[in-house]
Amino acid sequence: MPELKNGKLIIEDDVFIPFIEEDRLQERITEMGKEISRDYEGKSPIFIGVLNGAFIFLSDLVKNVDIDCEIDFFKLSSYGDAKISSGKVTLVKELNCDVNGRHIIIVEDIVDSGLSIKFIEEHIAYYSPASMKVVSLLVKPKSLKYNVKIDYIGFDIPSEFVIGYGLDYAQKYRNLRSIYILENHKSE
Ligand code: IMP
Ligand code: MG
Repeated sequence: MPELKNGKLIIEDDVFIPFIEEDRLQERITEMGKEISRDYEGKSPIFIGVLNGAFIFLSDLVKNVDIDCEIDFFKLSSYGDAKISSGKVTLVKELNCDVNGRHIIIVEDIVDSGLSIKFIEEHIAYYSPASMKVVSLLVKPKSLKYNVKIDYIGFDIPSEFVIGYGLDYAQKYRNLRSIYILENHKSE
C-alpha cells in the first residue's frame, strides 16, 4: 500500500489527497439504489458492470436495490498510459446474458471522455434491449468528448486523476475504501 503522510497518499512522484470519503460514498450510493429501485419497480433489469473498475460500486449499488435484478459483466481494454487513455477500446469479455427485450443498466465507475460508454451502448444496442440506461459513480463533465447521456450520476468531479474504490493507477489501489484525487507533483 502507498505511503501515508497526514492522510495524503504518496505514490512515487505523485501526491493524492482524500476526495470522497467512504461515508459520503455509501450515503450517495444508498440514494442511487433507492432511485433506481423506484424507477424500475415491476421490472427486472440486468445490471451490466464494466470491469474492472466498477466491481466495488456495482456490489454496493445492488445491495441498495430492492427489486428483482440480474447481474452480468462486460470488459473493455484500453491501451495507453496509466493516467491518460489512448482513445482506443477493444472488447475483452463479452456478455453472458441475453439482453434482447430486457431492461439494461450499464454500471461504470467513471466516465471521462465517454468513449467506453459509447462503445458499450453501441454494442448492446445491436442486441435490441427493451431499454438501456447508464449509471456512473463519477463523471468528469469537462472531459466529455462523445455525446453520451449518463442517466444516474453519483458525483460530478473535476478533470483530475482519481484512485480508490475500484479505480486504479496502473492496476493498483482499487482496494482503497475512499476516493483520492491527484493533488500535485511531490517536488512542486
Ligand atoms: P472514457 O472511455 O474516456 O470515458 O474513460 C473511462 C475509463 O477510463 C474508466 O472506465 C476508467 O477505467 C478510466 N479512467 C478515467 N478516468 C480515470 C481516473 O481518474 N482514475 C482511474 N481511471 C480512470
Ligand atoms: Mg473502467
